[in-house]
Amino acid sequence: MDTRFSFLLTLLLLLLCFLPTPSFSRSLATSARCNKNDYAALMKIKAALHNPYHLASWIPNTDCCNWYCVECDSNTNRIVELTIFQANISGQIPAEIGDLPYLNTLIFRHITNLTGTIPSTITKLKLLKMVRLSWTNLSGPIPSFLSKLPNLDFLELNFNQFTGSIPSSLANLPKLTGLHLDRNRLTGTIPESFGKFKQSMYLYLSHNQLSGEIPKSLGEADFTYLDLSRNKLQGEASMLFKANASTQTIDLSRNMLEFNLSKVELTKNLISLDISHNKIFGSIPEAITGLMNLQQLNVSYNRLCGKIPQGGKVQNFDSYSFYHNKCLCGSPLDACK
Ligand SMILES: *[C@@H]1O[C@H](CO)[C@@H](O)[C@H](O)[C@H]1NC(C)=O
Ligand SMILES: *[C@@H]1O[C@H](CO)[C@@H](O)[C@H](O)[C@H]1NC(C)=O
Ligand SMILES: *[C@@H]1O[C@H](CO)[C@@H](O)[C@H](O)[C@H]1NC(C)=O
Ligand SMILES: *[C@@H]1O[C@H](CO)[C@@H](O)[C@H](O)[C@H]1NC(C)=O
Ligand SMILES: *[C@@H]1O[C@H](CO)[C@@H](O)[C@H](O)[C@H]1NC(C)=O
Repeated sequence: MDTRFSFLLTLLLLLLCFLPTPSFSRSLATSARCNKNDYAALMKIKAALHNPYHLASWIPNTDCCNWYCVECDSNTNRIVELTIFQANISGQIPAEIGDLPYLNTLIFRHITNLTGTIPSTITKLKLLKMVRLSWTNLSGPIPSFLSKLPNLDFLELNFNQFTGSIPSSLANLPKLTGLHLDRNRLTGTIPESFGKFKQSMYLYLSHNQLSGEIPKSLGEADFTYLDLSRNKLQGEASMLFKANASTQTIDLSRNMLEFNLSKVELTKNLISLDISHNKIFGSIPEAITGLMNLQQLNVSYNRLCGKIPQGGKVQNFDSYSFYHNKCLCGSPLDACK
């Protein structure tokens, strides 16, 4: 009786091993890493995007950790990255992205026919560090609920059709270091709160329709990179220039700024300074000759006057950098009279 029983047991085990079973359930038991909740969310995302060819590797009942466009964490096996780039996809960002709770990177880029708004379910993704939704046709306002992502370090929403004003709550993001809202249709003023960023910032707001005065508070923040070009900003900007700032690039070109440049402080960290096409008056500060890292300079199309400081890198630039001012003189322009 005993031997017959063990014989039957062996036979049963052998059968279990060699019986053809659906690959997903077999791999779930042995080798599959994919978490079943992540798997379910990804299948819904694929369906919501109308099963695009770009996601052809997302085959039902296979290990989602092997799929293209996603990345599993090697310890937890949870989906931590979703990157859809240059895809022929038509539709909206699926609300089901909110069902990938371990996501730290969310990227939809260069997708012409990605339209609609940013779904509020994104606020469920408390571990998100990087969000890049750019070169798409997203529209509507930049949602203020993005400030509910406590780990967000890099937010890129450029080259879209976003309208409305910039939510001031974005300054509450405690870890933010890069904010790219350029090339949209944003209106209104720059939020006062943008003087409160905790870290040194890369801030890009260019190519919008921002108007009014630049808030004085911005003088209290530290910008490594500041691009406010091609807006309708008016008035003062001298608070953006500080001797002790880490600022490497300032681009204020093509606005309606009107202030006295004579008294601004210039940080030695400056690599690029473009203030062209404004109504800036006064003279170019002598301290500009001390900027040994300066590689780009454009003060053209303003109302500057007086002698161009001589020395340092200043004469590396040709007359087009100084062109069309009220009465600038000296090399590379004509000698002063
Ligand atoms: C976008 O959609 C339009 C109209 O439906 C279509 O003609 C075009 O091929 C699509 N382009 C891309 C890159 O998906
Ligand atoms: C947005 O859509 C328009 C019209 O379909 C298209 O010409 C444009 O290239 C799209 N923008 C981006 C960034 O793909
Ligand atoms: C720069 O100087 C200003 C005013 O003197 C001061 O308030 C600020 O804390 C300084 N910033 C840094 C980064 O040293
Ligand atoms: C700009 O400021 C300088 C230095 O304070 C001053 O001498 C000059 O008169 C001012 N220029 C104009 C046009 O207000
Ligand atoms: C400065 O701006 C003017 C006017 O837009 C342009 O012609 C010139 O090439 C620019 N110079 C540099 C060095 O960028």
